Amino acid sequence: VKRTPFIAGNWKMNLDHLQSIAFVQKLAWSLADAKHDFADAEVAVFPPFTDLRSVQTLVSADSLPIAYGAQDVSAHDSGAYTGEISGAFLAALDCRYVIIGHSERRTLHGESDADINAKVLAAHRHGLIPVLCVGETAEDLEAHGPSAVPVAQLRAALEGVDGSKGLVVAYEPVWAIGSGQAATPDQAEQVAAALRGVLTEVFDDEIAQATRVLYGGSVKAANIASFLREPNVDGALVGGASLDIAEFSSIARFK
Ligand code: G3H
Repeated sequence: VKRTPFIAGNWKMNLDHLQSIAFVQKLAWSLADAKHDFADAEVAVFPPFTDLRSVQTLVSADSLPIAYGAQDVSAHDSGAYTGEISGAFLAALDCRYVIIGHSERRTLHGESDADINAKVLAAHRHGLIPVLCVGETAEDLEAHGPSAVPVAQLRAALEGVDGSKGLVVAYEPVWAIGSGQAATPDQAEQVAAALRGVLTEVFDDEIAQATRVLYGGSVKAANIASFLREPNVDGALVGGASLDIAEFSSIARFK
């Protein structure tokens, strides 16, 4: 099965409104200049909620071959949930993807496996494809080895999920996020293979083979190719390096 590589930029709470718009426009120019073939790699950005409308306008006006999505979604569809953003709102902005279960949501906002499972189900109710993040802390790694925690997180997140509705999995070891110390390609491959095994178990082999598993954690232009050489790593979820237009566009052109 050929899986189209996926290069995703998670801006987190960075880039102000004007910077966001300029970034997407420049990214499009830079990829066009490089004759980037979007059949070879899908490129996506994940701006803050408040910039999604502008990104939608820009992307649709110029039919830019750039996908986008939100960094989180409510588990609820509507109602008295002050401050929450529902999947329906994101779908109305033509978001294709939504990041769910990022380690910063898990740790800083106390999201449990059950919360994340509810968000995956909510995303699917609105036709959004979850970019589901899993990953172990340094302590988990020490105590349980590399794949036990991400595997358990993935299983929990997929409870009752219909695999035909689309999914991207991002393996992000917490110790590698923003640390400048990426996992080795070997480490990423080992966990990505284990996660694909879970997909086979929970769904079936066809869905497991079609689902993209990304690596995230200190990815940059200098190391992206080494990850993409691994058979089970299908792209990257990029944080810090996704804020620099030259760096991110060269990650997108990883070959
Ligand atoms: O979502 C992105 C990850 O948290 C990776 O962040 O590339 O800054 O290490 P990083």
